[in-house]
Amino acid sequence: MPTRILGIESSCDETAAAVVADGREILSSIVASQIDIHRQYGGVVPELASREHLRQIVPVVREALHQASLNLTDLDAIGVTQGPGLVGALLVGITYAKTLAQALGKPLIPVNHLEGHVHAVFLEAHKAGKSAKLPAVCLIVSGGHTVLYEVTQEADAPTLHYKKISQTRDDAAGEAYDKVAKLLALGYPGGPILDRLAAAANGAPPPIKFGPTKTRGNPLDFSFSGLKTAVLYHVRERCEYGAEILARQEALARGERKFEQLLPLCSPQALALIREFQNTVVRDLRDRTFAAAEQSGASTILVSGGVAANAQLRNAFEERGKSAGIQIFFPSRALSTDNAAMIAAAAFPRFHAGILADTSLNAAASLPLS
Ligand code: KG4
Ligand code: ZN
Repeated sequence: MPTRILGIESSCDETAAAVVADGREILSSIVASQIDIHRQYGGVVPELASREHLRQIVPVVREALHQASLNLTDLDAIGVTQGPGLVGALLVGITYAKTLAQALGKPLIPVNHLEGHVHAVFLEAHKAGKSAKLPAVCLIVSGGHTVLYEVTQEADAPTLHYKKISQTRDDAAGEAYDKVAKLLALGYPGGPILDRLAAAANGAPPPIKFGPTKTRGNPLDFSFSGLKTAVLYHVRERCEYGAEILARQEALARGERKFEQLLPLCSPQALALIREFQNTVVRDLRDRTFAAAEQSGASTILVSGGVAANAQLRNAFEERGKSAGIQIFFPSRALSTDNAAMIAAAAFPRFHAGILADTSLNAAASLPLS
């Protein structure tokens, strides 16, 4: 009989539940996104996120069980995100998972959200009939994180071991996407639309060139706030962007936020600026990740988190991977962004290692991964 774990995720703005068998087979995966709620504020509002999790958690878990054709009593354990994330949001998932575990007499497994993102890659590799060789370097790149880990496994150890190589000094890459989209009046979240607009830019030269982003200290650390500010100053200093920004603000106010609706409202110069911004972010993520792989002697790179859905990033990593002889693994788009299948998958080896939580389990806003 496979081990069936219910995963619960509520660390940011997605309420998610999933059932995964033996850490590999996704029996169901339900994600209730709150994007429509946070869109009007241009970012996640923590209190609204908590309230929405509270509204969604019961139906989302119920639907995950329904789609897996299971009852609560069929489960072997419950895995829940302990952190990092928004405390008020995490507490909703944790309290619900704790209550379920107590009522059912099932084990409760605390999961680090970042380890979930790593397992999203393994879930995808398994679906494709591939296996990712360790040691690997893993880039987790989302709206809240931009961090590189070395992932290893000691012989016969049930769980993986993580060593942080570097991280962002300021903004996460996804946050930079969201902020640049906001200042250009392109809606929220910014990543998906900027990704498509960058690809739609014709050969117009960029109105500004950004060099590689620099950080003092650890040369593998990332930094994106300078780039975001450079875009801001460039746009502020040039009144020619004013009319198109206004036109897009009006379109967004009418609910017209689709790529097809916003593209005609973007000048060739704005598109070239977006392409240059994306080129810089992608080049930076790629160069530092491959440098980390070279330094640690890893022949595998894993990329996960919302920004891993970026088409140009995927191509850039695949291409460099081919020339460097490094295998690249990405989750599908659905598994790149926050979901609970990755939490249930990460809970599986911990369940076997006996890493369980008791009723004292609490949320940890900045939980380190080790
Ligand atoms: O992992 P995720 O769903 O939530 C966090 O933990 O942050 O990632 C969301 C982030 C947002 O900042 C969003 O703009 C970005 O991922 N994102 C993208 C793309 N799709 C989502 N960034 C660049 N290109 C994309 N295609
Ligand atoms: Zn995440």
